[in-house]
Amino acid sequence: MNPVKGIDGQTRLVGVLGWPVEHTFSPAMHNAAFAALGLDWIYLPLPVPPERLESALPGLAALGFRGANVTVPHKQAVSRYVDDLSEGALAIGAVNTIVVREDGRTVGYNTDWRGFLASLEETGFDSAGRRALVLGAGGAARAVVYGLARIGAQVVILNRTLARAKALLEHLAPAVPSSALAVRSLDASALAEEAARADLLVQTTPVGMWPHEGESLWPDSLPWPSHLVACDLVYRPRETELLRRARQAGAGVVDGLGMLVHQGGLALQLWTGQAAPLHVMRAACVQALEVG
Ligand code: ATR
Repeated sequence: MNPVKGIDGQTRLVGVLGWPVEHTFSPAMHNAAFAALGLDWIYLPLPVPPERLESALPGLAALGFRGANVTVPHKQAVSRYVDDLSEGALAIGAVNTIVVREDGRTVGYNTDWRGFLASLEETGFDSAGRRALVLGAGGAARAVVYGLARIGAQVVILNRTLARAKALLEHLAPAVPSSALAVRSLDASALAEEAARADLLVQTTPVGMWPHEGESLWPDSLPWPSHLVACDLVYRPRETELLRRARQAGAGVVDGLGMLVHQGGLALQLWTGQAAPLHVMRAACVQALEVG
């Protein structure tokens, strides 16, 4: 929003559909970006309970919204209610960004997978042709696995519930060569074995997230291999217990803030057509984290 003019009839609207949305950093991140770009746009939290999601979609277009982000728990369900899906959103089966076109049609995109890859790239890690270990098989894991497979990484998915990891594999099968993916049950011996031959470990579960900062899927008794780069999608706290272990072992670490910022930047670009001021968005997130 233009701070001098304030909100008026020209102000363009976007927001985030979630339930709950009280803890999201996205309004702070996007409103800081709009201010930095001098754009008369505003980004609002849109609390939508699951039973209202279907009616919220035509509601977005009816109210003149230009688009929205979609967060927990709607990312998968919302795919059914948009008019069109991008290739990535279709393959992943989840939407995190909606664009409302001029004609009112809604298009679902997934910027999580590109955001994840961008966050790795920015730390200088080249995932192409590498071996990656992904912990978890939920919605976030799908975007990560799709992204890694798209750039030619070999991926092993370790999940507490093996059936869910197999379901992930089946879901991605039409888009990803099956030779690139494998699944195993998540236990200490599988983790030790796979970690020894992987180049990158990506933690996609909520384990270690505030207010349970002390928790980690990495066993205390297992030394972290110093060659294994650690990436944790949890960004609150910024340094999770898992990242702390990796850093202490001298390994490379990638925190979850990068993916948050990059997926947001890609969404902003889809809505406005402008390049996102990533440094401003990152600073807004860091500030929101500090405020708590
Ligand atoms: P998201 O969309 O954020 O990825 P999700 O779809 O609910 O969330 O998926 C959560 C993932 O974290 C799942 O892989 C889940 O494992 P299960 O499939 O076995 O449920 C994993 N997860 C959550 N809590 C966990 C825990 N305490 N230990 C191990 N895995 C956990």
